Amino acid sequence: MFNTRVKIKALLGNEASGYPATVMGWVRTFRNSQFIALNDGSTNSNLQVVVALGLLDEATLRRITTGACIKAMGEVVPSLGKGQRVELKATSIEILGDSDAEKFPIQPKKHSLEFLRENAHLRFRTNTFGAIFRVRHALAFAIHQFFNEKGFVYMHTPVITASDAEGAGEMFRVTTLDMHQPPRHEDGSVNFAEDFFGRSTNLTVSGQLEGELGAMAFSDIYTFGPTFRAENSNTTRHLAEFWMVEPEMAFYDLEDNMNLAESFIRYVIQYAVTHNREDLEFLAQRLEEEEKQKPQAERGDMGLMEKLDFVLSNDFERITYTEAIDILLQSPAYKKKKFQYEVKWGVDMQSEHERYLVEKHFKKPVIVTNYPKDIKSFYMRLNDDGKTVAAMDILAPGIGEIVGGSQREERYDKLVARMEQLHIPASELWWYLDTRRYGACPHAGFGLGFERLVLFVTGMTNIRDVIPFPRFPKSAEF
Ligand code: 4AD
Ligand code: MG
Repeated sequence: MFNTRVKIKALLGNEASGYPATVMGWVRTFRNSQFIALNDGSTNSNLQVVVALGLLDEATLRRITTGACIKAMGEVVPSLGKGQRVELKATSIEILGDSDAEKFPIQPKKHSLEFLRENAHLRFRTNTFGAIFRVRHALAFAIHQFFNEKGFVYMHTPVITASDAEGAGEMFRVTTLDMHQPPRHEDGSVNFAEDFFGRSTNLTVSGQLEGELGAMAFSDIYTFGPTFRAENSNTTRHLAEFWMVEPEMAFYDLEDNMNLAESFIRYVIQYAVTHNREDLEFLAQRLEEEEKQKPQAERGDMGLMEKLDFVLSNDFERITYTEAIDILLQSPAYKKKKFQYEVKWGVDMQSEHERYLVEKHFKKPVIVTNYPKDIKSFYMRLNDDGKTVAAMDILAPGIGEIVGGSQREERYDKLVARMEQLHIPASELWWYLDTRRYGACPHAGFGLGFERLVLFVTGMTNIRDVIPFPRFPKSAEF
């Protein structure tokens, strides 16, 4: 048996000392041929492994370099060093994997986030990315726990589909046809009947439509998986491949939906604050240092921990789209022509407008409801005014839209009419329409962009830093 080690988190978390232990991990630094800072990813804290003079020969000492992987056996003893209760007094050290100190890109110094993005395969071995991805894990786990406690069924919706769930045409095609010589119809168009699935297929943009089928049987379901968008958005908020959480609930109206979304967001943040305090405090410190580099006017008025506590203890603001537009039109920013994009009833709010509402006006997360139907998807329930739909977007400080959801149009005739207006072929979505034929009921759901949540909780500012291997235009490395 090889795995006889104790994880560093467990070792450091234990009050005891005076017992033998084996640890394994990667060397962060090696000082004075005596003190190894060892990290195994279980915690941000390194374990100090003390190598007594004379324990190792010169050749072995030279192999203890930043990045090398080692196994250390010894005794856990009280530490004289600052910031740690215990350390390991080594009795033997084995090099499991050498690391050429000259070439290893992750040196024990501050690297830029850009540099680390180019070395995304190794960036997990830094304090910042160690903390980010442990928090990401905790949030993913908390999501399952939240829905499981509420009796939701976790439903796996397909990654390859033949439909466009958002009707926005931003899909990646999936095909096995020969790109150079695809089979063609007489009119020259590609004959997808000869493709792998016998039709044209793409990567899913959302699991919602299949999720609705589940909700019409289990009452409450959620999906949590990768979704894909071929939108050419080169921003710090967009990915071509991102993870989305999509709950879908029978017997819910828009208000029920908002209430669930709010308690869901609080629950997962609370989970991370409780279980990942050390990581979050590290990230808070990082953010504070980053903020200091900025001019006073651009600095946030809350630290990361304060911001999370604030969200935990304050209700989100709820306003209609119409009210939001009024606030923008009344705003000093509008009057001083500070907005780049047009503000008037009917336009899709741009990020500058969302940020104004959240960061300047309300200074807290805001749920905007009842958007004009023409800027929202076909499946949203038409309100009695005939102009707006029962939609809700949650906007978060520093992020913008974090959740998009709605009550669904459960009335068959209204849904079909809307699809016709938008030229969405009913023949493709016959199975979706069947839910409206057989036992339809009021229902609602939402989608939370998981990376945007991770951004919010970690205080990071670029979405490419909160997913292990980001996919965006012109980039699919690793
Ligand atoms: O608002 P969206 O497009 O809504 C849907 O897909 C619905 N089917 C959800 C539902 O009701 N079940 O996307 C939902 C969320 C957005 O609010 C945003 O947080 C995130 O997904 N999102 C992205 N995240 C990263 N990169 C992108 N390109 C994203 N597009 C949307
Ligand atoms: Mg949206």
